[in-house]
Amino acid sequence: MDFKLTEEHIMIRDAARDFAKSELLPGVIERDEKQEFPKEQVKKMGELGFLGMMASPEYGGGGMDTVSYVLAMEEISKIDASASVVMSVNNSLVCWGLETFGSAEQKQKYLSKLTTGEALGAFCLSEPEAGSDATSQKTTAIDQGDHYILNGTKNWITNGNSADFYIVIAQTHREKKHKGINAFIVEKDWEGFEVGPKENKLGIRGSDTHSLNFNDVKVPKENRIGEDGFGFKFAMKTLSGGRIGIAAQALGIASGAYELAKNYSKQRKAFGTEICNHQAIAFKLADMHTNIEAARHLVMKAAWDKDNGNNYDLSGAMAKLFASKTAMEVTVEAVQVHGGNGYVKEYHVERLMRDAKITQIYEGTSEIQKIVISRSVLHD
Ligand code: CAA
Repeated sequence: MDFKLTEEHIMIRDAARDFAKSELLPGVIERDEKQEFPKEQVKKMGELGFLGMMASPEYGGGGMDTVSYVLAMEEISKIDASASVVMSVNNSLVCWGLETFGSAEQKQKYLSKLTTGEALGAFCLSEPEAGSDATSQKTTAIDQGDHYILNGTKNWITNGNSADFYIVIAQTHREKKHKGINAFIVEKDWEGFEVGPKENKLGIRGSDTHSLNFNDVKVPKENRIGEDGFGFKFAMKTLSGGRIGIAAQALGIASGAYELAKNYSKQRKAFGTEICNHQAIAFKLADMHTNIEAARHLVMKAAWDKDNGNNYDLSGAMAKLFASKTAMEVTVEAVQVHGGNGYVKEYHVERLMRDAKITQIYEGTSEIQKIVISRSVLHD
C-alpha cells in the first residue's frame, strides 16, 4: 500500500494552496460580512482550470483524477469555503454529470463553457417540500412532443443567481414515481425562469444561494439528460461523486481551522508560557490532528475508489459523514483554543466554524449518509 502522492498531485495541491493564499484570503472576511459572491476570484479559478478539473480536455477540462480534485478542494476550503462550494458544484455535480450522462451535442454546447469558467452551473434538486426526501418532486416537466413545459420551485440552490446553466430535476410521469423523473439543462435567460430571493445564511455567506421559479419554461427535448425517466438515477449517481467533493470541503475547513489553532497556540502566552505547552491545549491539538488524518484517509479512499472504477456510494457517504462531523468538532475547538480572539472575525476561526455546519446538511444530511451507509452494509 502506497500512501505517497505523485509529483503531479503535489504540484496541483501547491498550486491550489498558492491560489487560495494569494487570491482568496484577501477580502474573505469582508465577502462573508457583505454576503458578496467571489466573482473575480471564481473567474480566475476558471482560467486556472479549477472549475473543470476532472472533465476531459476534449471539452476544455483538466483531465485530472479525483484525488487531484480533492487535494485542490481541501486547499481552497482551508481559506474560503464559499469559493470551494462553487468549485465543488460546478466540478462534481454539473460537469461530471453532463460529461458522464449528457449527449454529444449537450457536451459540445454546455460542457465546454462550464469547464473553463466561461459559464457557471447549478444543480437544482431540492424543493420546499423535497429536501432529504428527494423522490417527492413537485416540479413538473410535461411532455409536449418536441419540448417540455417546466413548472415549479427549487430551493437553496448554490450559484442560484450566478449560474448560466441549470440542471433541473422534475417529475414527468407522476404515476411512475421516481422512475418518472427527468433531468434537464435550462438556460438562465429562458422565458419563465426567475431567480427568487437570496438566502441570508449562517455560513458560506459569500456563496450565492437562491430559490428559483419556473413558470411555463419551454425546454427543448434535446435538453433532457439521458433516457425518459432517468432523472432520479442521474441525480443519485451525480450526488455520490458530489459527496466526495463536499467531504473534501469539510476536510479543508477542519484542517484550515486546525492550522490556525496550532499556530496561535505557539504564539499566545498564558501562565508564563505559550499555551501549546499546557496539556489542556496540546491534547485538543492531538485530537484535532488525529481526526483530520482519519477524515483525510476516508476522503482519499473514496476518491481512489472513483478513480479506480470501484463503487463509491458507500466510501463517499462515509467520507462525507465523518469529515463533516470532524469539521464541526475541530472548528469549535479551534475557536476554544483562540479564547476571546476566536470569537472575533479577524482570526478567521469563527467563520470556519459557521461554514462547517453546512457540510453536515447539503448534498445529503448526515442522517441521509447514515441511510446510504446502513443500507449498503446491511445488503452486503
Ligand atoms: N446510484 C444509482 N441509483 C441510486 C442510487 C445511487 N447512488 N441511490 C438510489 N438509487 C436509485 C435506487 O436504486 C432506486 O431505483 P430503483 O427503484 O430502480 O431500484 C431509486 O434510486 C430510489 O431509491 P430509494 O428507493 O433508495 O429511494 P428513497 O426514497 O428511499 O431515498 C435517498 C433515497 C438516498 C434517501 C435519496 O432520496 C437521497 O439521497 N436524498 C438526499 C438528497 C440530497 O442529497 N440532496 C442534496 C441536494 S443537492 C445540493 O445540496 C447541492 C448543493 O447546493 C451544494
